[in-house]
Amino acid sequence: DWTMAAFREEAIARIREQVGDRRVICGLSGGVDSAVAAVLVHEAVGEQLTCIFVDHGLLRAGERERVTELFRHHYNIPLVNRDASDLFLDKLDGVTDPEEKRRIVGTTFIDVFEEEARALGGADFLVQGTLYPDVVESVSPKGGPQATIKSHHNVGGLPERMDLDLVEPLRELFKDEVRALGRELGLPEAMVGRHPFPGPGLAIRIPGSVSRDQCEILRAADRIYLDEIDRAGLYDEIWQAFAVLLPVKSVGVMGDARSYEFVCALRAVTSTDGMTADTYAFSHDFLSRTATRIINEVRGINRVVYDVTSKPPGTIEWE
Ligand code: XMP
Repeated sequence: DWTMAAFREEAIARIREQVGDRRVICGLSGGVDSAVAAVLVHEAVGEQLTCIFVDHGLLRAGERERVTELFRHHYNIPLVNRDASDLFLDKLDGVTDPEEKRRIVGTTFIDVFEEEARALGGADFLVQGTLYPDVVESVSPKGGPQATIKSHHNVGGLPERMDLDLVEPLRELFKDEVRALGRELGLPEAMVGRHPFPGPGLAIRIPGSVSRDQCEILRAADRIYLDEIDRAGLYDEIWQAFAVLLPVKSVGVMGDARSYEFVCALRAVTSTDGMTADTYAFSHDFLSRTATRIINEVRGINRVVYDVTSKPPGTIEWE
């Protein structure tokens, strides 16, 4: 794509001019935007860039390994990989309010990120994967709290605290253009085409209080669900698909014994911008195959339901 090739060259020149020979840090979320921004900045200033990945214990299965593999091993980009899951899960213990959960994840994230940045000896610039819609968007569907988390995702609050200047190479781009740029930069399709994942992660996919055990159960169910979607070749038709673990137990039979376990809800939506969404119409076969696998393979779930609520009136996430 010639437009993206030209954009790439210009962006690299601009980053070099802005940064000079100073130090840059970038928070990786595992998502497309921060990945594209990081690879672009790395191309511009090489080892002056260090990436920081914070595992808050609320990620999907295999996420930390995926990020490490891609950035540290494939791109050779210096990467700090911090497992802070105990800190986050301890702070979330017993907290049930969705907005409070978002706030805790957001502020803790900034604290941990700052700690890691200081341990690196500080930096002069912070890379943010801000897109054009983020620049113009003033109101979000869930109001203030989501706006806060958007800034969590973008490590808001940190630039002032650490006296960092921002490098925002994607500010003029829409999501589809970021994906095109990612392809231009040679990022794997599996990264470029990824479904969005919310900053607070699994914390907002387990309604009510969040425990380590529940996270484990949800990760296992979600992995099976996405695996079935991949196998059926449906991933790219769907905007976002994920499992939700309901804090509700129901009775079932396993073999010849009575079971009493959690309910898992499956969600899949189509959308163009996440502001409105329709539910994805899986075949009955697909749903029952997936439900059977989840119940057979995941200890702690004995019932699976499919969420057929569009947005509005529902939101995409359950909290
Ligand atoms: P909702 O649930 O509001 O989601 O319909 C719309 C899109 O935004 C994502 N989302 C979030 N992303 N922090 C984020 O970074 C959040 O707190 C948050 N809440 C929702 C959601 O996954 C969907 O893509």
